[in-house]
Amino acid sequence: MTRRAVLAGTGSALPRTRVSNAELAERVDTSDEWIVERTGIRFRHIAEPDETTATLGADAAREALKAAGLSPADIGLIIVATATPDNTFPATATKVQALLGAPDCIAFDVAAVCSGFLYAVSVADSMLRTGAAEHALVIGSETFSRILDWEDRTTCVLFGDGAGAVVLSAKDVADDQGILATRLHAEGQYCDMLYVDGGPSTTGTVGHVRMQGREVFRHAVTNLANVLGEVLADVGLKAEDIDWVVPHQANKRIIDATAKKLGLPADHVVLTVDQHANTSAASVPLALDLAVRDGRIKRGDLVVLEAMGGGFTWGAAVLRV
Ligand code: ACO
Repeated sequence: MTRRAVLAGTGSALPRTRVSNAELAERVDTSDEWIVERTGIRFRHIAEPDETTATLGADAAREALKAAGLSPADIGLIIVATATPDNTFPATATKVQALLGAPDCIAFDVAAVCSGFLYAVSVADSMLRTGAAEHALVIGSETFSRILDWEDRTTCVLFGDGAGAVVLSAKDVADDQGILATRLHAEGQYCDMLYVDGGPSTTGTVGHVRMQGREVFRHAVTNLANVLGEVLADVGLKAEDIDWVVPHQANKRIIDATAKKLGLPADHVVLTVDQHANTSAASVPLALDLAVRDGRIKRGDLVVLEAMGGGFTWGAAVLRV
């Protein structure tokens, strides 16, 4: 028997307000045609003032708990991956804990921007296997609309708000169920290519997203294809063994180019970027939840998660659900 972190449930939450490209074009100098052609994005959800990273995260967590058949009292670890916390401190994870009414447990945030969920899954996997908790809530939640420069058409059309969550449970398994391998990377020399131009220790302001889009694109395709190759090699599997890839949803062209590089058929890739845009750390668990709930991802499937974001940071995980 091997002790592994097993996927016990998924959940997600989206803000009430959905904004189409055409609606966006009324306030920004852009067009539906440009956005669809360059990114594949058609809609994004934008949080209202009463919807925050913590409330969206808690809503997604409730769904994941329900799917897992667990209650907040069963949870020993809550990790929220986010670049848009409700407050500089306390950690949004503790606010989610309070909203869920979960008793004393371990709760903290992980900041790795769009790869945050992969970082959080990897940390939770280690902590579950070494006995720090029996059940973990791993949440990606973002309100990127609050850090967008709505005058900058090169960035504001790309992002949306939302949250996704998974329950991971420690289980002694005889087969290859659960998280089989994770890989994480960071290359800080590229931190100026995708960043927020503010923060508590520099400007004392929240700041706005700034990005060198073409450079990000180039690095994303290379890094994601490499890290997918690494996790598959770790478990002795090949691209053709994968049932589903759940990629970070930044741009359909990045997703297509990465899949092509690995020789993955497009109909094995979960795509939500058209409906949600880039929700940063929320995008992978949001897409995962969608594909689990619509029946595409089934028990026994081999699923690969991958993401790349500011830092640069990137990572991948392979699991048998
Ligand atoms: N609407 C209309 N025109 C626009 C818009 C817009 N929203 N934004 C830029 N343009 C114009 C530019 O001004 C430029 O015009 P010009 O030729 O007259 O100067 C033209 O479109 C082309 O601009 P580029 O930046 O060269 O366009 P590109 O084809 O590189 O596409 C994009 C830009 C979509 C941002 C692309 O570089 C990209 O997807 N990069 C990856 C970035 C990304 O996904 N980041 C998300 C976070 S990182 C991550 O999650 C992996």
